[in-house]
Amino acid sequence: MSPVGRRIVVASNRGPVSFGREASGRVVTTRGAGGLVTAVSDGLAATGGLWIAAAMSEDDRSQAGRTIQVDAGGRGYQVRLLPFDPPDYEGYYDGISNRILWFLHHALWDVPRAPTFEGLAEAWQGYLTVNEAFARALEEEGRSPPGEAVYLVQDYHLALVPALLRERLPRAAIAHFSHIPFAGPTGLRILPQPIREALLAGMLGADVVGFQAPAWAENFLLGCRTLQGTRVDLRRRVVRWGGRVVRVRVHPISIDPAGLREEAAAEPAEAAARDILEWLGDRRLLVRVDRAELSKNILRGFLAYERFLEGNPEWLGRISFLALLNPSRQHLPEYRAYTQEAIELADRINSRVGRADWEPIRLSLMDDHPRALAAYRLYDVLLVNPVFDGMNLVAKEGPVLNERDGVLILSENAGASAELGRHAIAVNPFDVEATGRAIATALEMGPAERRRRARGLRSAVARNPIDAWVRAQVEDLERMGR
Ligand code: G6P
Repeated sequence: MSPVGRRIVVASNRGPVSFGREASGRVVTTRGAGGLVTAVSDGLAATGGLWIAAAMSEDDRSQAGRTIQVDAGGRGYQVRLLPFDPPDYEGYYDGISNRILWFLHHALWDVPRAPTFEGLAEAWQGYLTVNEAFARALEEEGRSPPGEAVYLVQDYHLALVPALLRERLPRAAIAHFSHIPFAGPTGLRILPQPIREALLAGMLGADVVGFQAPAWAENFLLGCRTLQGTRVDLRRRVVRWGGRVVRVRVHPISIDPAGLREEAAAEPAEAAARDILEWLGDRRLLVRVDRAELSKNILRGFLAYERFLEGNPEWLGRISFLALLNPSRQHLPEYRAYTQEAIELADRINSRVGRADWEPIRLSLMDDHPRALAAYRLYDVLLVNPVFDGMNLVAKEGPVLNERDGVLILSENAGASAELGRHAIAVNPFDVEATGRAIATALEMGPAERRRRARGLRSAVARNPIDAWVRAQVEDLERMGR
């Protein structure tokens, strides 16, 4: 049993480990990536428990059924991977989760053209099948002893699980948590009504519905008003639905500063730091670290840098921009096209203003964690400008490791801005000129102001310890008599 006194069962699409195969046929494990996995694994390492995730590949499926022990920070937890038929999984993951829910909640559609919902019925069937299988697996885990388990269901992939699990176990303690933004009622109306209602009713099967930031909680509450039969109290963040009371809560997720510092001091990150310094020379360093992802607003970030150089020619040759992009969902055409556009834009800027002795932007497209840690240590300015983002952990990791009193430029639409905004330079992520001006402001800021802000960022992160996130959710449920 965990220190919180209950058996914790987490469910999410991506788990903390995935499997691959070397040329020799040997099975190898890799760590899952992304905000959810980073945050939940640190949280669960502190409490212990079981994590049920989807087998996302053929090699994952070969490991399904066995219990995998993950040792993390002295404690540990178990992982079980659920296998699915590939067509069902594709409908659920790409069809609904990635191409509809991700786009909807991050406002990524070019609405005059998309979505068109081709193939929706089939994809939705896959979504139902996978959500049902998760609910079944969770029920099995919670059978003995009854009433002891606390279910923490994660993200938009599993929006139907709370209601499906509630049908099976009416008295279960269930929390659902979204790591991404939540669209407001106008955005939700893009979805066909039955799907919109099923998603909202699905989440309302939980006792507590959690979000990273107040703005997303509020959007969810407003969205619930569109569902017939709900009574929504916006101020107290309560929804009454089907004779039950559902509480909506905000629990910003955090990071593990001590673990991060340890990784950043290890040789791979040291070597990457030497490499960056050799490339940089005595120039100032602007950094971004992201998945190569549409919501991260990479193109406007590059355009803003170009505007900044145009408007401030005294900086030509005195600054370099290191953009570390981790490839993501490259099987989706939208992602391939976006990544290609980013590469072309960086090339264009380099050939327009670059010189033999100066590369204005270096774009690196690979999963290179040590280099990201090194860049965090060295930046003068960190650009985090997502169009919308549930939280954004780069905005927390960077300031914890930075050694130069670097300045954070932060999108007003990142969940992190609720906690960190007052220590950062806030930008409207759509406003390219304003973002360009923010780069100039950051570079020209005096040392005392930089130090004050850097300290403010570090202590804002330190105030929210990583294990508080899991505990807070369990406490919410217990406060409701669960
Ligand atoms: C980030 C977000 C998570 C989301 C994940 C999906 O990590 O923080 O909320 O679940 O992306 O990415 P994936 O590669 O698993 O589709």
